[in-house]
Amino acid sequence: MSDFEPFYDVNLSYDDNYAKGPFGAFAAALAADADGTAASADAAGAVADESAVDFLGHQVNLPFGIPAGPLLNERFTTAAFRAGFDLATYKTVRSRAWGCNPFPNVLAVHPQSADGSLIPGSAELDEGVLADTRYEQPISISNSFGVPSRDPDEWQPDMKRAIAAAGPGQLLIPSFQGSRTEGMTTDDYIADHVATARLVTETGADLMVMNTSCPNEGHNRLLCHDPALVGRITEAVKNEIGDRALAIKLAYIPPTEVTGGWGPERTIVDDSALEFMVKETAERGTVQAFSAINTISARLVDANGEQALPGAGRDRSGVCGRAIRRAGLDMVARLAAIREKLGLDYTIIGLGGVVSPEDYAAYRAAGADAVMSATGAMWDADLARKIKAAR
Ligand SMILES: Cc1cc2nc3c(=O)[nH]c(=O)nc-3n(C[C@H](O)[C@H](O)[C@H](O)COP(=O)(O)O)c2cc1C
Repeated sequence: MSDFEPFYDVNLSYDDNYAKGPFGAFAAALAADADGTAASADAAGAVADESAVDFLGHQVNLPFGIPAGPLLNERFTTAAFRAGFDLATYKTVRSRAWGCNPFPNVLAVHPQSADGSLIPGSAELDEGVLADTRYEQPISISNSFGVPSRDPDEWQPDMKRAIAAAGPGQLLIPSFQGSRTEGMTTDDYIADHVATARLVTETGADLMVMNTSCPNEGHNRLLCHDPALVGRITEAVKNEIGDRALAIKLAYIPPTEVTGGWGPERTIVDDSALEFMVKETAERGTVQAFSAINTISARLVDANGEQALPGAGRDRSGVCGRAIRRAGLDMVARLAAIREKLGLDYTIIGLGGVVSPEDYAAYRAAGADAVMSATGAMWDADLARKIKAAR
């Protein structure tokens, strides 16, 4: 790897990152904050930028930030704010402490196509994609954590501090998900989502994003592939959280019928699967925003064609970064088309492979109201400043 230091150190365990991070430019941003040399949250009389826009009822300087994942705790989210990311998502929390998959949790991924894209549904995803420790720009990685969580007694006070550290025109977004445990009924599973949402509200949050796209909820079955269940869960959660905005995080959902493959000649004949998700949630008023996309699952192999990540159940893992940019843009454009068709006004948070100001602009043009970057921001702590400079 180059001497560049991502704020989440992929050469360390999750626990070491949690205890010692953030690193690199984010550590410097926190140090400047402590010195009083950086703009901090409590600057007297500070207000949002003149160019601030509305995001789910909040004034936000630039609707750009970091999604659930790399910002493990308050130190990471505060560093993100100070580095100019105006939307900072607190890593997905659960109703109980939950362990992390064994180290390593991140590998570099090298798709074969000329532009480095991984196309949903393509054979490459099952045949194997090369994964190793050669991190190259534009960056694509796999992350395999299993959505670890601290106990609520630990994350609730930390999330409260994270919310308070947002500067003018900045917003902390909590992320949560339900946990499926042995012997749970569907009603128990729904109740766990509701209980976790309640724990989030107790931190003072007035919006939240619910992850429905965790690839680790039982053998690659994603909650968002069951829109009727997502509909039941979001209804129950919305009853709990009242007027607070609820966003849901989606994985890539393929169109139901297309002609012309994946090229520019592609026509979507039928998008009823995604439309059904929208109807079960946003159309009922239980969901105010969609965040898309989460990682794309692929079989990861080393240079010898062997399983790249050690351990049972880790032959496949989620890919993020540049490789999923085309898929992310595709989902956002389709969510925007469905919004128009159904006459709804939900917010679209677009993400997947954003590594440059051009990617930010492409997502906005596709219909995203806000844009986020996980992998791209990890490898470029200046990304928010670059996008602001390019406006
Ligand atoms: C290190 C890391 C950890 C992640 N953990 C979570 C998580 O806890 N919850 C979640 O909803 N998404 C998680 N994600 C997925 C991201 O939010 C995002 O959907 C995905 O990485 C695609 O964006 P990107 O191409 O900008 O990385 C994680 C991503 C990364 C890189």
